[in-house]
Amino acid sequence: MRICIIGTGYVGLCTGVGFADKGNKVTCVDVVSEKVDKINNGQAPIYEPGLGEKLMEALGNGSIRATTDLKEAIAETELCFISVPTPCKDDGSIELKYIRTVAESVGSVLKDLDRYYVVVVKSTVVPGTTEDVVLPLIEQASGKKVGDGFGLCMNPEFLREGYALNDFLNPDRIVIGEIEGRAGDVVREAYEGFENVPIMRTAIKTAEMIKYTANSLLATKISFSNEIGNICKRLGINVYDVMKGVGLDSRISGKFLRAGCGFGGSCFPKDVAAIVARARVAGIDPGLLQQVLDTNREQRGLMAEQLKARMPSLENRRVAILGLAFNPNTDDIRESPAIEIVGKLTKEGASVAAYDPRAMENMKKVFPDVEYAGDAKQALSGADACLIVTDWDEFKELSDEDFALMKGDVIIEGRKTLKPERVKKFEGICW
Ligand code: UDX
Repeated sequence: MRICIIGTGYVGLCTGVGFADKGNKVTCVDVVSEKVDKINNGQAPIYEPGLGEKLMEALGNGSIRATTDLKEAIAETELCFISVPTPCKDDGSIELKYIRTVAESVGSVLKDLDRYYVVVVKSTVVPGTTEDVVLPLIEQASGKKVGDGFGLCMNPEFLREGYALNDFLNPDRIVIGEIEGRAGDVVREAYEGFENVPIMRTAIKTAEMIKYTANSLLATKISFSNEIGNICKRLGINVYDVMKGVGLDSRISGKFLRAGCGFGGSCFPKDVAAIVARARVAGIDPGLLQQVLDTNREQRGLMAEQLKARMPSLENRRVAILGLAFNPNTDDIRESPAIEIVGKLTKEGASVAAYDPRAMENMKKVFPDVEYAGDAKQALSGADACLIVTDWDEFKELSDEDFALMKGDVIIEGRKTLKPERVKKFEGICW
């Protein structure tokens, strides 16, 4: 198939490179020309494992290109996936301005297109958005009617940052929300070559809600694990042993039960807040989902609290922060617990020495005056305390010898990372 991807963030670019890897011809569109140039030069604007290599391969065999020209991109393709940001407004509700702009632009291009074309919303949008916002904007701008001049579908993404390309190429399921089967068939064809993957065809609003429900349930599992972790710590029980036993129940699964300093990222916090806001507009007060967010916010604060319990005054103390990204294998710091932790420590007069294998450039934009170390050892050297905030694989190899570089001996893990056989003395946020 000839596929257009609108928006080249981690969802759009990984989806585009993934479709190209599956033998499709992909045209990526972005309004930022620097991004377009980088992609065409084989430099992925974001870091994701395997993305750079696959992008180079696709450029080499001519199966992908990027452009700022939407009209040209639609003219050479059969369907487009809209994967532009849907960030959170201050009140927690979803920001649809980018979706609206793209819907109008696509509609304007479809006006002069003399063939059936399918538009697919892949961005995470609250239920009702595709049919109540995107559809009328395309019909107005194109002068065409859905089902006649164009088709409209919703195909949510389930990609984890740091594992996005892998998750696209190995999905647990493909959900296609459709108004009419003709459009759904075109999207189904785009996913040819994804063997043994359940494909669910459903209504558009259902597809939108599946995305929010999946993310809300995953976030709930995390906040649940953190609350159980806090209880276990008081009772002297290892929550990771508890969750190992609980996760053996096939109805629960052992995944997403890792207690720690809370979830970050551009999805869980935003998506749960958006569905809470949407529920309230619909007249429902989603207390459980609101508590998931509240528990997560409290959990982040625990790291600094536990440090201060061990070191009441942080004035002029050197604190090593290992890990800034919200997830390992990514450079993304959006909603990372590290932002709140570094902010709190610097406000208390601590001198922070931060290290992260990938995310330091992004964190420098937030905290330019913090020391950024070349490696973990440099951050640890002379430090009075150390907080581990991201479970990068390289931190798993740290040993007592590395921590001996510290001046103090306070080591607190926000993610279960260190190996007890390598490091004798450390404390965990919930263990
Ligand atoms: C999430 C969903 O997993 C993905 O399906 C959806 O498409 C987008 O949102 P993402 O937020 O990118 O993906 O990464 P994920 O691996 O889910 O981690 C999110 C956060 O939760 C990270 O901060 C991670 O540290 C934290 N987490 C995850 C936990 O604290 N405990 C866990 O058990 C799992």
